Amino acid sequence: MTERVKLERDGDVALIIIDNPPINAGSAEVRTGLLAAIREFQDDPQLRSAVLIGAGATFIAGSDLREFGQPLQEPQLPAVIEAIERCGKPVVAALHGAALGGGFELALGCDARIARSGTMVGLPEVTLGIVPGAGGTQRLPRIVGIPRAIRFICTGERLNCEQAFMVGLIDEITSSDLRSAAVAHARRLRGKRLLRDLPVPGVTEADVESAADEARKAGKNRPAVLAAVEAIRYAAILPFDDALVRERAAFQVLRVSPEAQALRHLFFAERNASKFPQLAGVKPRQVGHLAIIGAGTMGSGIAIAALDGDLNVTLLEQEVGALQRGVDRIREHYARRVAAGKVNAETAANCEFRLRATTDWNVLADADLVIEAVFEDIAVKREVFARLDGIAKPGAILASNTSYLDVDLIAAATSRPRDVLGLHFFSPANVMRLVEVVRGAVTAPDVVLTGLEVVKRLGKLPVVTGNAFGFVGNRIFSAYRRHCEFMLEEGALPEQVDAALEAFGFAMGPFAVADLSGLDIAWRIRQSRAATLDTAARYVRIPDLLCEAGRLGRKTGSGYYLYEGDARKSRGRVDSFVHELLISASADKNIVRRTFGADEIQLRALLAMANEAALLLAQGVVQRASDVDVVLVNGYGFPRWEGGPVFWARQRGSKTLQAELDWLERVSGAGFVQGDPRHLFEEGS
Ligand code: NAI
Repeated sequence: MTERVKLERDGDVALIIIDNPPINAGSAEVRTGLLAAIREFQDDPQLRSAVLIGAGATFIAGSDLREFGQPLQEPQLPAVIEAIERCGKPVVAALHGAALGGGFELALGCDARIARSGTMVGLPEVTLGIVPGAGGTQRLPRIVGIPRAIRFICTGERLNCEQAFMVGLIDEITSSDLRSAAVAHARRLRGKRLLRDLPVPGVTEADVESAADEARKAGKNRPAVLAAVEAIRYAAILPFDDALVRERAAFQVLRVSPEAQALRHLFFAERNASKFPQLAGVKPRQVGHLAIIGAGTMGSGIAIAALDGDLNVTLLEQEVGALQRGVDRIREHYARRVAAGKVNAETAANCEFRLRATTDWNVLADADLVIEAVFEDIAVKREVFARLDGIAKPGAILASNTSYLDVDLIAAATSRPRDVLGLHFFSPANVMRLVEVVRGAVTAPDVVLTGLEVVKRLGKLPVVTGNAFGFVGNRIFSAYRRHCEFMLEEGALPEQVDAALEAFGFAMGPFAVADLSGLDIAWRIRQSRAATLDTAARYVRIPDLLCEAGRLGRKTGSGYYLYEGDARKSRGRVDSFVHELLISASADKNIVRRTFGADEIQLRALLAMANEAALLLAQGVVQRASDVDVVLVNGYGFPRWEGGPVFWARQRGSKTLQAELDWLERVSGAGFVQGDPRHLFEEGS
């Protein structure tokens, strides 16, 4: 054995214990230990059956992802599973915590599976740009059938053990001691009961095709999804061992693909993002009661997220009508979730029970954390914070959901700026995972830490940022959009820019986004900042001209595009008014319009993002380069499989990137500030 795997005996049952904290990741050392243990079990005539079990809090919760980027070390997982299959005696997988990826494939290679209640199982490989490579695509369909296996693997779905039991992936659930229940289960088994020996349940080709179609569409035809669909279909047409060889070959090709590298980068980036090493040793404050000021779009979304996170929530409004609309939005949300079978009625009722709606500010005296989500106006926000300062209890944390405003200026309206921070949620706040945790100049460390902890408690992804205009996400997105406006002025059309960036993988192009969120938001920001702007800098008037023409986007039926019928649903149509406006805007500046190809549009837009990221890193607004990727992917529709703007920039290599940023500077004109690309290659703490 190795240090990571031990063999213990319970009479005639071998207990093979995997001990690789913290998550028992399936590393080379674990696999070596497993092989040795299985051989010892096989060779010992006293042992009639075995139990595979994890020490600590979980079974194998995944593979060691770092291994996937390197030449794979022997023994590989398929060899371990083959040893289990060939050992001649039954082996039971005893699951608790999580059995994911290679961990669940190992369990599927055993003769039976028993789980402690609360266990989750899944094959999330596709979300990392690969396919299950140790028989998952072949053994799973032998239990659940090909269509269900396609859905399960292609979405990276996780099942709790009750769901897994219902479909036959788990044979027994126990709420008592897992080890003794598994030993008892193993003693009951007579001989091998391998999944490889089962036939694949027959289904119609139409059912398979419809599941495949659905998966390809939902998975945006990404290579891992296509390969997974193909591999699962082999289960019905190829001998088991031939299909395993094909599955492994697909896995080997995909694991070193740029897409899998990008997704692994994000996996680690997201895991690191919520860590803030400067806070080691700091203790968070207790938060049980959250109050939210403002029951609009954001306030009600944050309330839902907090209710789902088991907090008591007070929602406060300035007038009864707005309060009622907010409460109705929350109730409708839960009614929809119950109707769709996503939550049970009891859970929904419990959430609504924990919501208190009020117009009485005195109630805020009880709150441990108050999140302000009123209009984006510094005077209104300062007034709200000054009033809050007179009511909130000592030690309460006061947060603003502002998108752009100066958190220090807001904090200065109180007598306790150390207790103030920004918690910038994204819309819809109950769905979007990203939250920027904005540190003010004097925000206390335990306030930042509590912000991080609360965000995590809501199941969200916090990224700590400094207090700079637009923080990280809006700042980079503005630079990107501004650069796309430069291209409009030079000859590109909004539909060409949008199409090029959608082809790159953005959920929506920047001008479609602008129409959706309303052109007036950025217009108001530009007006409020007019005095501080560099007058010599290049300024594109096109969005202002659209606003002046009353074209504020979807809400007015036109913006960069024309919307007919129900503007919320209609697909924007190209509008000759906009084309004429562009021609005259270019003529006003004596710019000779020229054509743009998709490659140039993508390159310039992405370089603009990378450049702004380098500036933010230099200014310390963001502590790690990879945090930028977490923000852009999770909040701004940057394609996950491209890894984020920093990952994208790194792929270009430092020399090329430097030359390209010099070119970006030339084409951007006056006012462009070039960032130092070396920051993009540093990991940060
Ligand atoms: P909204 O207009 O939907 O809601 C604001 C609510 O605040 C209104 O119901 C209003 O009655 C209430 N309110 C205004 N003054 C108040 C006061 N003195 N006391 C109590 N309630 C008051 O606005 P939305 O979209 O929810 O935005 C709120 C904040 O969230 C803004 O700072 C905005 O920049 C920020 N934000 C908005 C996002 C979005 O996509 N809508 C995304 C991220 C942040």
